[in-house]
Amino acid sequence: MKSSKPETPVATTARVPLRLRAEVERVLLTRNQIARRLRAMARDIQQDFKNREMVVVSLLNGTVMFLADLVRCLSLPLRLDFIGVSSYGAGTQSGELVFTKDLRLDVRGRDVLLVDDILDTGNTMARVLEKLGALGPRRIRVCVLLDKRSRRIQPVQPDYVGFEIPDVFVVGYGLDFAERYRNLPFVGVLHPHVYTAKQTSSVQNPHMTSSQPAKSASQTD
Ligand code: XMP
Repeated sequence: MKSSKPETPVATTARVPLRLRAEVERVLLTRNQIARRLRAMARDIQQDFKNREMVVVSLLNGTVMFLADLVRCLSLPLRLDFIGVSSYGAGTQSGELVFTKDLRLDVRGRDVLLVDDILDTGNTMARVLEKLGALGPRRIRVCVLLDKRSRRIQPVQPDYVGFEIPDVFVVGYGLDFAERYRNLPFVGVLHPHVYTAKQTSSVQNPHMTSSQPAKSASQTD
């Protein structure tokens, strides 16, 4: 079935709370815009997984808010499990992925909905798809809240996308920088000075571009 087209963020008059204005440049997506889009995505997923019992596999940690809100919009039977993956374990080279938690549920012959917060280069998703595929599921559908399509390196094609966003570093609604900002109820654009300041004292990341902060060694997804 054809899923609804991803939205591009529309300008909002919502303002960043005063206490965060030095760090968060602007609100990219409000909680209402996210909630509305999630309902539409859930409808697409329901259609696609009709009469199937699905296993929702979510990548830790950035998906927590998205996952919790999405699954509450789904009324079909499902089971939930998590894969832990971190882009940079301490002491590893940039770009290297470390699996920090494996699946507990058996997905062999099952219909899997793989949920992530944001698809960027696609490196993470490509590795996870490879690992998950080896477990023999009947099919895997990929669902992401945000897609930075312009940054894609791997040929990963998500099935359900909330919003297609520009090449800016975003935080909030589960997404972090150095483990902060996950609790913001909106998605906001981080001021570049926040990560340029951090980078001078953290691991250098050759993947960094002008709009992409290096992740500190402790940052997980
Ligand atoms: P790749 O490049 O492997 O990246 O597709 C996916 C992971 O990178 C993180 N990421 C971000 N995290 N704001 C964040 O908080 C961003 O703008 C951003 N871009 C990429 C994220 O952990 C994702 O799972």
